[in-house]
Amino acid sequence: MYSEAEKESEKTSSDLRAVYTEIVIDHAQNPRNLGQIPDADGSASITGSCGDTMEIYLRVRNDKILNAVFFTDGCGTTAAAGSMVTEIAKGKSVSDAFKITQHDILDALGGLPEESQHCALLASDALRAAIRDYFTYKNQPWKRAYRAHF
Ligand code: FES
Repeated sequence: MYSEAEKESEKTSSDLRAVYTEIVIDHAQNPRNLGQIPDADGSASITGSCGDTMEIYLRVRNDKILNAVFFTDGCGTTAAAGSMVTEIAKGKSVSDAFKITQHDILDALGGLPEESQHCALLASDALRAAIRDYFTYKNQPWKRAYRAHF
């Protein structure tokens, strides 16, 4: 015998599955690589057209992404996109990771509803900005000294 709470939970779950893929639901409910890296080798905070922000932090050695983490104040699909973009980026060279597109993230998630597809764009934009940040400090390391002050 199901309680009212269990029935409601079951309905919510089937409502979600009607709209989102199992991969999206899994990454939204169990986001991988959520967090921040102090003194990251590259980082960025990007706010999308909807007003949500995604931060990406990279740990890089020899131009290879050893670790990538994200943080967001956005909704579940934004978290799923951040989770997936960091999973895809880890282990790649920075130049290969720079080529990750909104469509790569959407493909890996098994798609998103039209109105949520900009969440994947925010994730790819944030990753590219973090990689640009990495190159800035790689090419001009003296600028790191100014990072804490500006
Ligand atoms: Fe704003 Fe997802 S709803 S990025």
